[in-house]
Amino acid sequence: MEALHIEGPVRLSGEVTVSGAKNAALPIMAASILADGPVVLDAVPEVTDVRTLAEVLAALGVYCHRQPDGTLRLETIANEACQAPRGPVRRMRAGFCVLGPLLARRGRAVVPLPGGCRIGRRPVDLHLQGLAALGAEIQVKDRYIVARARRLHGAVVNLLGPRGPTVTGTANVMSAAVLARGVTTIRGAAVEPEVVDLGRFLQSLGARIDGLGTRTVTIRGVEQLGGARHGIVPDRIEAATFLIAAAITGGAVSVRGARANHLQAVLHVLQQMGCQVEIGTGQITLRCDGHLRSVDIAARPFPGVPTDVQPQFTALLTQAYGTGTVHDQVFPDRFTHVGSLWRLGANIAVRGAKALLAGPTPLHSAAVRALDLRGGAALVLAALAADGRSVIRGVHHIDRGYDRLAEKLVLLGADVRRISPRATTANLPHARCDERSAVMLPTA
Ligand code: EPZ
Repeated sequence: MEALHIEGPVRLSGEVTVSGAKNAALPIMAASILADGPVVLDAVPEVTDVRTLAEVLAALGVYCHRQPDGTLRLETIANEACQAPRGPVRRMRAGFCVLGPLLARRGRAVVPLPGGCRIGRRPVDLHLQGLAALGAEIQVKDRYIVARARRLHGAVVNLLGPRGPTVTGTANVMSAAVLARGVTTIRGAAVEPEVVDLGRFLQSLGARIDGLGTRTVTIRGVEQLGGARHGIVPDRIEAATFLIAAAITGGAVSVRGARANHLQAVLHVLQQMGCQVEIGTGQITLRCDGHLRSVDIAARPFPGVPTDVQPQFTALLTQAYGTGTVHDQVFPDRFTHVGSLWRLGANIAVRGAKALLAGPTPLHSAAVRALDLRGGAALVLAALAADGRSVIRGVHHIDRGYDRLAEKLVLLGADVRRISPRATTANLPHARCDERSAVMLPTA
């Protein structure tokens, strides 16, 4: 297991380009099961989750190849397999997105209950209710979903859960409905840009979908879909992470590919905190003089502040003057990063779904462990602002969803290195290893 070795504090400056969105690329790759023809995708990020999903698809007869020009080509070689392999699906949430396409295209799907980041309860009841409304017979056997349908039919499906619409649930139902007989109306559909991107991809295959980006999506089923070429939408979460990195380091960074219409709530918070934001053509520039004001932030479904940026904002608020709160209304238990932020010197209390912060607190170096993807990004941001050399373990969580994060930060002037476990211990003369938790702790 590798670690990130970060020397802070640093003032980031320069330009960085965001990759394609992981959370768009994954359901789009899964939906390629529906295509009767090759699919070519531009801007698929080089992240572990993409490789893991390619493993799932290979087991289902869909082969993914990176081509010399960087595009990802997906081609169905065999249409018979219906059982997704347990190992890779248990490693990530998006593996479950093969359920709808398999049912619609092959009439049967056996898919393990998904894994993914540990960020609180992540049920799939809405996915299953939606597919059942389209006519699927669904059973749960030994932690597998076993679903079948000779031909799905259109229906009115409600995907609004207690905490808002479901993103991957909308992906599953929309991908299934495109080949169903008749008209499907999804009420309470997710409107995240990644879901809209999936809808556009399906349209390019020949699907008939209206209302993308609204809470009511109408799908008229067709008999067959072709192949297509599609460019993945830029990653707004990666873009937000770099903007927050600029803010926490008192820097000036231009994020190329960032789309302001996908980031309005994030930009609003950053401006409220005292950052200067300039929206240019195809890029957003953030400048921060190092003086940040605290605010109250609520993470909500799009167009609100994304829950996937909540941990990074929590790290940022540690450097802001005054008291502030971060309320996660989508995943109320998504605060596993707070323990590590404490080690770095943050003053945070968690009360239910809210983190309460008083700042600014000087951050200092520590050895910490990423426990999930965005929590890991928050630790990287905090380490950039902390005084001294920090070590972040659990980098595989960060690699699941950030395309070359360390390399991009280095281009902005950060001192970030990947090191092996042996080097982690050897290079840290002022650290000891707590045997019980296997976490590196700074000596008192
Ligand atoms: C997607 O997860 C993203 N994952 C997550 O990103 C993101 O945090 C989340 O949407 C919210 O934006 C992918 O796209 C692969 P949900 P998903 O279903 O679809 C409840 C990252 O870091 N719910 O929209 O699993 C659920 O408990 C990852 O990139 C039900 O009640 O999230 C939550 O409170 C982490 N029943 C809310 O809905 C269901 O059947 C939203 O979850 C499904 C969900």
